[in-house]
Amino acid sequence: MDSNILNNLQLTKVAVSKIDTFDFENVKFGAKFTDHMLTCAYKNGEWGALEIKPYAPITLDPSARVFHYGQAIFEGMKAYKQDNNDIWLFRPDENFHRFNKSAIRLAMPTIDETRFIGGLKELIKVEKEWVRKGLGNSLYIRPFMIATESGVIASPSSEFLFCILLSPAKSYYSGKIKVQIADYYSRAANGGIGAAKAAGNYSAQFYPTKLAQEAGYNQVIWTDSTHTHLEESGTMNVFFRINDTLYTAPTSDRILDGVTRKSLIALAEHLGYQVKIEPVKVEAIIQAAKEGSLKEIFGAGTAAVVNQIEGFAYKDDYYELPNIADEDAYALQLKNALTKLQNKLTDDPFNWTV
Ligand code: COI
Repeated sequence: MDSNILNNLQLTKVAVSKIDTFDFENVKFGAKFTDHMLTCAYKNGEWGALEIKPYAPITLDPSARVFHYGQAIFEGMKAYKQDNNDIWLFRPDENFHRFNKSAIRLAMPTIDETRFIGGLKELIKVEKEWVRKGLGNSLYIRPFMIATESGVIASPSSEFLFCILLSPAKSYYSGKIKVQIADYYSRAANGGIGAAKAAGNYSAQFYPTKLAQEAGYNQVIWTDSTHTHLEESGTMNVFFRINDTLYTAPTSDRILDGVTRKSLIALAEHLGYQVKIEPVKVEAIIQAAKEGSLKEIFGAGTAAVVNQIEGFAYKDDYYELPNIADEDAYALQLKNALTKLQNKLTDDPFNWTV
């Protein structure tokens, strides 16, 4: 960490905090933010000073590249508070490295660890009251970068804004969800930007997801562009349990290298589950569902943590998954192990908490 950058951080605090007006019991994911945000501008080939200032709208030229060409990336992370008031981040180095990978893919500048992780820690210190204790409570962290240079010329911007927002969170989805396996639309293709946390990857999902919702499903399980393999579920990576083996697709150009995904794989192996990281064919899952060997499907992501799927539609058929007792569900065992570790309620043999 470069202490000069942190020593030069400009801090402007709100006159009055809005924390007393925030309903921590009824939290809608991502709808409200804390008092302050962190910003840092990139200009003339370098990042400037970090600023922590009151959460407020950003003013941009209407021709700024982000509005026209979608040069924008983001991350999703969480902070947790222990009973002794210590605050913990979960594997922030993973998000930092993935952010820079996304930046490179979108022709944006990479950012240094001091500004990303050091800046985040300073912001959280200012906002420490917004992190609530207790399993299920967390502070969702949304770092993002947008292209701010004006002009509608279709070329990469030379000016950018890095920003971090914080939002108290509980669960993302409540309860099990029903999904539809994509047999026409695709989220990503080889050589594309599927592996990047690019804003456009998410907006491209909205329309097919809306169609799935109109048909009675919560989310889409994305397939590759030939619709042969199952790749991601909504905004999450996806796991399948056939008999007692967990399957998930390997990461690729098309699949996000999810931090929750890789943590669940490590935890599952640690707990003695059999895990196979290999391409998962649609036809294999249909076959397993028909034979009764498909026991569980679940999504995994920072926002949702682990989301159980109760059934899926493929073309004209709907397949209901068996009702597994909570104590036998791999999804819940893994969710429990992960959230306890994140909240420092158990040992952290992996040194993931910071
Ligand atoms: C996350 O899980 O942090 C995500 O990025 C999903 C988000 C689109 C809500």
